[in-house]
This record gives sequence, structure tokens and C-alpha cells, in this order.
Amino acid sequence: MAVQFQLVCCALAACFMVFSVGLFGGTDAHSYVRPPPREDLFLRKSDDSPSSSPQQVHISLVGQDKMRISWITDTPTPATVKYGTSPGVYGYSADGSVSSYHYLAYQSGEIHDVVIGPLKPNTIYYYRCGGPDSGQEFSFKTPPAQFPIKFAIAGDLGQSGWTNSTLEHIAKSNYDVLLLPGDLSYADFVQVLWDSFGLLVEPLASQRPWMVTQGNHEVEKIPVIHKKPFTAYNARWRMPFEESGSGSNLYYSFDVAGVHVIMLGSYTDFDQNSDQYKWLEADLKKIDRGRTPWIVVLIHAPWYNSNTAHQGEHEADAMKAAMEGMLYQARVDFVFAGHVHAYERFTRVFNGAADNCGPVHITIGDGGNREGLASKYIDPKPEISLFREASFGHGELEVVNATHAQWTWHRNDDDNAVASDSIWLTSLSSNSACKL
Ligand SMILES: *[C@@H]1O[C@H](CO)[C@@H](O)[C@H](O)[C@H]1NC(C)=O
Ligand SMILES: *[C@@H]1O[C@H](CO)[C@@H](O)[C@H](O)[C@H]1NC(C)=O
Ligand SMILES: [Fe+2]
Repeated sequence: MAVQFQLVCCALAACFMVFSVGLFGGTDAHSYVRPPPREDLFLRKSDDSPSSSPQQVHISLVGQDKMRISWITDTPTPATVKYGTSPGVYGYSADGSVSSYHYLAYQSGEIHDVVIGPLKPNTIYYYRCGGPDSGQEFSFKTPPAQFPIKFAIAGDLGQSGWTNSTLEHIAKSNYDVLLLPGDLSYADFVQVLWDSFGLLVEPLASQRPWMVTQGNHEVEKIPVIHKKPFTAYNARWRMPFEESGSGSNLYYSFDVAGVHVIMLGSYTDFDQNSDQYKWLEADLKKIDRGRTPWIVVLIHAPWYNSNTAHQGEHEADAMKAAMEGMLYQARVDFVFAGHVHAYERFTRVFNGAADNCGPVHITIGDGGNREGLASKYIDPKPEISLFREASFGHGELEVVNATHAQWTWHRNDDDNAVASDSIWLTSLSSNSACKL
């Protein structure tokens, strides 16, 4: 019966799935032969019987010096985290909350959510979830209080063999914080794939904060049957929105080591009368460039894109029309997007043209999901597009100090990470020609 239901759910999901076109042997003249998609790995926990041990552990930043710890169990356990700075010695303890959700016939496990801190910067903490003696010990490192800081960035991750390859490269990068511009699990209505994604990312996401925003694959709304959008995403990937004055988990901001990061929501209202628009306006006004000389923005559907995939979409064009001016006026340094399964870097742009005081737009939707690559480009290449390539990979943004940052794109050359595009950039706050 259970198996049958799962099959029905899968069939249903397939009906609603949107497949992007992965064309191989594209138009760009690169010697590297791009690989075909890989299947989803579909991980299951090692022990199939209901268990109280924590699974799918992931952490995220909360405010200046706190961390949210999230994990799932099959059976009810206390929402308690014990932690400290030496292995096995837990001088501190914090309590949080437990929730769960229904989706069609699927009933989630117990989703635990505990905020711990205050924590010291640049420090390794050891922690255990679920109260005394339960489960294994995990550890994480808090980000530094000051520059330098390194972000790993990858969108449209999914859970294929290529995702695993990308994660392996990110794990070796010695990053401080991961930024994900939408499309996490590619569960596409099949909720057990959210659990599988949680298992796949746990080794990384339990060790460094993962800060995410939503993509189209997170919506999971089904007409009549399941009208509420973002059910699994909001339940499983709670981000620190209240701390930045946002009323929604779908958009928020945070400061880390001199960088103000703004996570926007491409799949919720963004027009001038929307809550998101008003929130963004207020958030940009609050930024103190003395304290955070850099501003980084993440969206899902790219505002600049010379790939043939995802052209003319409302979430890209209307959101750009509504919000680009505000970001330009605030002298945002970078806008990272996903959605297009490829890598593309633009020069500084505003309103469709090169502009020295505009943000650098980068599409980094190449995390490795099962849909494969978007390898067809508009020819000729627009002058504002400086580098484009349909390969899987990830990006690293190392913000060295208040004025200098290095961006590097690492391509998955089969299973090896190869630095394939790299550039130094200076902050707009340090550019006197861009003073307001
Ligand atoms: C993921 O990659 C690691 C490192 O190469 C490998 O050991 C592991 O077996 C892979 N996992 C899966 C599920 O394929
Ligand atoms: C910032 O970093 C760049 C690149 O390493 C360096 O050239 C510059 O001198 C640094 N600025 C300061 C104020 O340290
Ligand atoms: Fe997408």
C-alpha cells in the first residue's frame, strides 16, 4: 500500500515537473567535452527502523553571534543542543522547538530547530543534538568577525552524482559560509527526496552555515490538492528572517565579517506594493558601509542571461524592472543567480548596459542537478557578458579586505575541480567615482 502510494505520488509529480532542456554539444568552442546528467543518488538512512538519532543536521547564521541547528528524527526527542569548544565537553545547552508537516500522504519526521549562542567568532564548536547521550557528535566553525572571509556559492544543486562531485570540491575549499541562490533538493513533490537531500548535504551543512534562498523547485504547490507553497522548504530550511525585520522566510538579510548579504525571493511578490519591496527598501537604508563595505545579493532567476534557457520569464524580467534601480542606488557589489544550469559572468551593469557603479551579475546555477546543463547560448555573445560556459561547478568569493575581493569559478572537470575563471574586484564603497 505504502509503496503503491509512493508510485502514485511519483507519477503525479512527473506531471507537474518542469524539465529544462539539456542540450549537449552546445555552441561554445571549448575543448572540454561536457558530461551527460547523472542520476539522483536517493540516499536512505542506514537503519530503516524508526530512530531517535539526529539526521539531516544543518546549521545557519542567526544575528551576529548565534547559530541555528536543525535536525530531523523519526521519533520525538527533546529539542536540545549541548555544545562547547572541546570534543565531548558540553558546557552549554539550549532549547528550541519541534515541528512537522504533511504533504499529500507524506508525514515528515520531527523537525528540530534550536538557536545556540552567543558564540565566539572563528572558533570550532562541538555539539550533540537531542539531549543527553543521543547520536553522534558534530562540529562546526563559526565565521570570522573580520575579513578575510570566504563564501562558497552554488545554485540548482539537486542530488545527483554531479552534486556529490560539486560538494566534494566545496568541502575542500576551506569556506566559511555557503550561499545557495535557490533550487535545493529537486524533490519536485516527492517528499522523501527532501530527506535524501538532507542526508547528502549533512556532512557539509552540519559543519559550516548554509544560507539559502528559494527557487522555483521549492514552490511545490499543486492546484486543488496542495495549495500552500513552500511547505517543505519553509519547514526544513528556516532562515533568520525576523532578525532582519522581514516577515517571510522567503527573503532576509544578514551581516557577516564586513559583508551585508541580501537573500531575495524570486517566487514571492516583488512589485512596488509588495512587502518584499518595502522590506528591501528599508534594509538597504539601514546598511552602514563603514561596518559592511560590501553588499552581496542573491536571487534565483537571473536578470542578466545570454543562455537560451529561461529567457523572458516574469520572475526575472519583472523583478529586474522593479528592483534593479534600488540595488544600483545602494551600490550593490554582486548579484548572484541560479536557475540557468551553467556559469556566466557579466561586467558591472545597470539597465542593460555596462556601468562602473553597477553590480557584477553572475549566474551560478551549475551545482549538478539531474536535469543536466543548459548549453545553448545566444549568438553573438553580448559585450556585457565576459565569460560563459555550460559546465557543472561552484564559485568561491574571497573577500580579502574592505576594498578587494577575488571571485573564482571552479569547473567540475569530470571529478576534479579546475579553477577556470578568476577575477579581482574592488568594492564600490571604495570607488570615489561611485559616491552618491
Ligand atoms: C560521493 O563522493 C564521495 C567522494 O568521492 C564518495 O566517497 C561517495 O561514495 C559519493 N557518494 C555517493 C552517494 O555516491
Ligand atoms: C587589500 O587587499 C589587497 C589585495 O590583497 C591589497 O593589495 C591591499 O593592499 C589591501 N588593502 C589594505 C588596506 O590592506
Ligand atoms: Fe530554477
